[in-house]
Amino acid sequence: MADNRCVVYKGPLQTAVEDIGYPKLEVPEDVASTMGMRTQKAPHGVILKIVSTNICGSDQHMVRGRTTAPVGQTLGHEITGEVVEAGEDVQFIKEGDICSVPFNIACGRCRNCKERQTGICLNVNPARAGSAYGYVDMGGWTGGQADYVMVPFADFNLLPFPDRDQALEKILDLTMLSDIFPTGYHGCYKAGVTTGSTVYVAGAGPVGLAAAHSAQLLGASVVIVGDMIPERLEQARSFGCETVDLTQGSPGDMIEQILGTPEVDSAVDAVGFEARGHGADAEEQPATVLNDIMSITRAGGELGIPGLYVTGDPGAPDPDAEEGTLKVRLGLGWAKSHSFHTGQCPVMMYNRGLMMSILHDKAQIAKAVNATVLPLDQAPDGYQQFDSGVAKKFVLDPHGMIS
Ligand SMILES: NC(=O)c1ccc[n+]([C@@H]2O[C@H](COP(=O)([O-])OP(=O)(O)OC[C@H]3O[C@@H](n4cnc5c(N)ncnc54)[C@H](O)[C@@H]3O)[C@@H](O)[C@H]2O)c1
Ligand SMILES: [Zn+2]
Ligand SMILES: [Zn+2]
Repeated sequence: MADNRCVVYKGPLQTAVEDIGYPKLEVPEDVASTMGMRTQKAPHGVILKIVSTNICGSDQHMVRGRTTAPVGQTLGHEITGEVVEAGEDVQFIKEGDICSVPFNIACGRCRNCKERQTGICLNVNPARAGSAYGYVDMGGWTGGQADYVMVPFADFNLLPFPDRDQALEKILDLTMLSDIFPTGYHGCYKAGVTTGSTVYVAGAGPVGLAAAHSAQLLGASVVIVGDMIPERLEQARSFGCETVDLTQGSPGDMIEQILGTPEVDSAVDAVGFEARGHGADAEEQPATVLNDIMSITRAGGELGIPGLYVTGDPGAPDPDAEEGTLKVRLGLGWAKSHSFHTGQCPVMMYNRGLMMSILHDKAQIAKAVNATVLPLDQAPDGYQQFDSGVAKKFVLDPHGMIS
């Protein structure tokens, strides 16, 4: 039997499940040497037996060949697991704890971590601020679409669930705490969504749906979700959102039909750089959503932009976009005094509160995103289905602990 199966990127639109060996309590060599760590050893880390691990639109950017991810890149940053080994410096997390892992790896010691900006930790990635498990340019940490994974700085990073049986019972909701639920919530929170707000969410993928549900939790009066995939728009309607079908044109006119005005209070970009233009059969136009949300957000409004933008895109539609330079109409946003909130979601800022909302039945995130379980071996099929635009959030179940 394999020591540790993991999903691995094998080239554009190809993934495989391979044995990568059982994890060690060690940080990546490059991280240790470049970031001035005293040792590569990670007595502050734990090994998790993975209970659930989700496929994400962020993984798809790599799997579609739209990043500089090398063949052999291990995948998986949305991890929930049971502690099976704790390093000798771990004080409070115990073997047997079932924990949610924020997808951002954070040291808990640097200036940004101390200021709760864990999405841009300064000590875990030689290439730039911020890191994640199983992701290109994110420090070389091993992915967690696997049987086991190592989590460093465990006391700081992990969110243990209060009760094991309750955690396993609600695992399809709790598994969304590692990324998309906090990320969708962050998009809305930063966009200023509050009681009575009207909100536009671009994208009805899992992050967009999580943002839409978060807007409801924050008290929005109307949540309008835009996409061009009918099945995904139907999913948004299933929990009370209005929708606009962007194959029919730009969002402003359709928003006016719903609200009586073409503007909303707050908008969230849950699409990112692979955005398509408006109309049937529109080609990719990476700045579409950024320009849309400036057009349809009221003057003085705020824009939550969790959708991912890259600094290198080998599959870009034009040479500027290849290095992340997009045709953004900044003059419009400037004229409306818009605030832009970009970057990785600092998961730790929100995961505890959202966990409480799940445990006390106030949030139904699994239902909103249509959580769908697959065994780990079927991950390549999950990637293909997700790429085709199905309205499902795939949750991998390596040890058969979910069903
Ligand atoms: N900031 C963060 O911390 C963070 C965390 C997780 C995911 N993300 C990013 O969020 C984005 C969404 O993730 P996902 O898993 O939902 O991905 P996804 O690919 O499943 O969903 C994107 C959706 O956008 C739709 N779309 C394309 N062009 C559009 C347009 N012009 N207007 C409206 N919709 C359009 C697509 O049809 C698709 O349904 C990705 O870019 C992902 O990398 C960011
Ligand atoms: Zn993710
Ligand atoms: Zn840090």
